[in-house]
Amino acid sequence: MTILVTGGAGFIGSNFVLDWLAQGEEPVVTLDKLTYAGNLANLARLQNDPRHTFVRGDICDRPLVARMLATHRVRAVLHFAAESHVDRSIHGPSEFVQTNLVGTFSLLEEVRAHWNELSGARREGFRFLHVSTDEVYGSLQPGEPAFTETRAYSPNSPYSASKAGSDHLVRAYYHTYGLPVLTSNCSNNYGPMQFPEKLIPLMILNALEQKPLPVYGDGGNVRDWLHVGDHCEALRSVLTHGRPGETYNVGGSAECTNLQVVNTLCELLDRLSPRTSGRYSELIKFVTDRPGHDRRYAIDATKIRRELKWTPRHSFATGLEQTVRWYLENRAWVENIRSGEYQRWIDKNYLAR
Ligand code: NAD
Ligand code: DAU
Repeated sequence: MTILVTGGAGFIGSNFVLDWLAQGEEPVVTLDKLTYAGNLANLARLQNDPRHTFVRGDICDRPLVARMLATHRVRAVLHFAAESHVDRSIHGPSEFVQTNLVGTFSLLEEVRAHWNELSGARREGFRFLHVSTDEVYGSLQPGEPAFTETRAYSPNSPYSASKAGSDHLVRAYYHTYGLPVLTSNCSNNYGPMQFPEKLIPLMILNALEQKPLPVYGDGGNVRDWLHVGDHCEALRSVLTHGRPGETYNVGGSAECTNLQVVNTLCELLDRLSPRTSGRYSELIKFVTDRPGHDRRYAIDATKIRRELKWTPRHSFATGLEQTVRWYLENRAWVENIRSGEYQRWIDKNYLAR
């Protein structure tokens, strides 16, 4: 038996594949298109590991997906593949609708056909785990209770709207066809191998290059941070013990304003890799806000904590220090990322701000 991981060369997907194979023997087949965000270097450790098969391809390629499901006798699908960056969805939403919505639909159709061919224990035990986001719930006011699983959807960016649409499709496949699906809605992840367009790695790498640290708006937007390793552990729990048809909110109860996050990163870098003169916080620059910028996200993770006994292992303080150290120690990975495409994105998103 094998699990199929879509988007397994991206940030969370690759952390998941590495953790999965570190903890057990069940093989993994990874399907990834290798967009700008996919990076085979993330999976380099598995190059000669017979338990891992990598296939470069698109989740929208239905014949390919059908072949992979049948050939590998897939017993579960972990669906990470997505366009995941909000700012990119503002500049160009089309890819987001194509991969996140149409791609999830294509995958669901092929998974449904595969599942329909199964019988007995294999059919009973089959699972489709859809990895989604807290952004589908929209924005919270200060002091409002955190998102529970019953919160109404209210997405505000093309990214979150496309993820919300995919969540609805997944739900519909359970209610209409009985496909044994599970959905997780997680808060902001951080940790090793995150593409440096996202807040934390962007700030670390800009700081090390003595470049401005671009904080959107007043820096008061709040995110609820979770270490990627804790997210992966939550997903393994949901896959094994989650009830089909259910959704699970996952979060670290670590709400911080962006300015607090950036200042903490600066303090860590002052200690771990000091500047020749001055402090990193002197590089902070307030820039034009993101359009439709959600003010606050916060996850109420009571359900997964109570039902599945999941609890995060990393505090934000220790996880952030470990992450800063990872970027300091993995300069080759960083240099490899700084391709023409990365520089083009930085120019497009920041030059006119
Ligand atoms: P990422 O952008 O780092 O990786 C996405 C991966 O998907 C890349 O490897 C890319 O090549 C691949 N991909 C994109 N389009 C594809 C396609 N059409 N076919 C096959 N592969 C394709 O994203 P991430 O941060 O690792 O997020 C993974 C999932 O988790 C996403 O679904 C995202 O919505 C969700 N999520 C992310 C966070 C977060 O903080 N990063 C939080 C909650 C949920
Ligand atoms: O909440 C889960 C979501 O978290 C995931 O679904 C997304 O895939 C993931 O990208 C992330 O979305 P955010 O938009 O919250 O993450 P990002 O790292 O882009 O931004 C975090 C906050 O930092 C946000 O309020 C915007 C702000 N920001 C971001 C960048 C890149 C800045 O102030 N400056 C920046 O340069």
